[in-house]
Amino acid sequence: MAVTIKSKREIELMREAGKILAEVHEKMADKVKAGMSSYEIDQICEKIIRGYGCEPSFLGYDGYPGSVCISINDEVVHGLPEKNKIIKEGDIVSLDTGVIYKGYQSDAARTLAIGEISKEAQQLIDVTEQSFFEGIKFAKAGNHLYDISAAIGDYAEKFGYGVVRDLVGHGIGTEMHEDPQIPNFRQNRRGMKLVPGMTLAIEPMINMGRPEVCLSENTNDDWTIVTEDGSLSAHYENTILITDGEPEILSLNK
Ligand code: MF3
Ligand code: CO
Repeated sequence: MAVTIKSKREIELMREAGKILAEVHEKMADKVKAGMSSYEIDQICEKIIRGYGCEPSFLGYDGYPGSVCISINDEVVHGLPEKNKIIKEGDIVSLDTGVIYKGYQSDAARTLAIGEISKEAQQLIDVTEQSFFEGIKFAKAGNHLYDISAAIGDYAEKFGYGVVRDLVGHGIGTEMHEDPQIPNFRQNRRGMKLVPGMTLAIEPMINMGRPEVCLSENTNDDWTIVTEDGSLSAHYENTILITDGEPEILSLNK
């Protein structure tokens, strides 16, 4: 699929979708507490999304059974909602979810601390989030796509973290996954030139230990991806818009 450049009208719809998704995440961050199952979290998230008149974009995507991916501790992404998976104090929990508003998509992820977490875990969350912001310093028309990738990866690696290589960010619009793919580490080339009207989901996934990931063995699902070495992992994602100046972070409300 080709890279799509959004029209003024499409950008307005992407803005609206993003604004709603930002609110969904704000509400979820308030609701998620120790003792809840990942299934309950999914039910709440679906209700909130539908409350905005939006469709949960993940539900049914490639057969995915939920509206949000709930990835706990060493789970990197795509954590499945399960009744017997209970969040507990000290966990870090990544919530990745998306909405469709009038045909336009927004995709974002946050990693939450459940109660008191270790200093090390908090640093992983903070660095993952900051790596996104380091990356989008380069998300400007005239720069190249992999300038973003390099800035994300270089920043996270300074802390000794493992930047996940097997999963990437992506273009987004009427489809959740559009071209281009956006790695989170330095490439040998600078990649395509960035153009105003591109909408991109930038999503660093950072491990405290090694970068390698694999499918979970504990679940009989085909979804949940974990760190190979069992180390903690954090995820931070926003849908952004390339403009003539600074990028607009569509899925984050100021
Ligand atoms: N949000 C993920 C991404 O950023 C995709 C989730 S896959 C799904 O690409 F099946 F859960 F939807
Ligand atoms: Co995404």
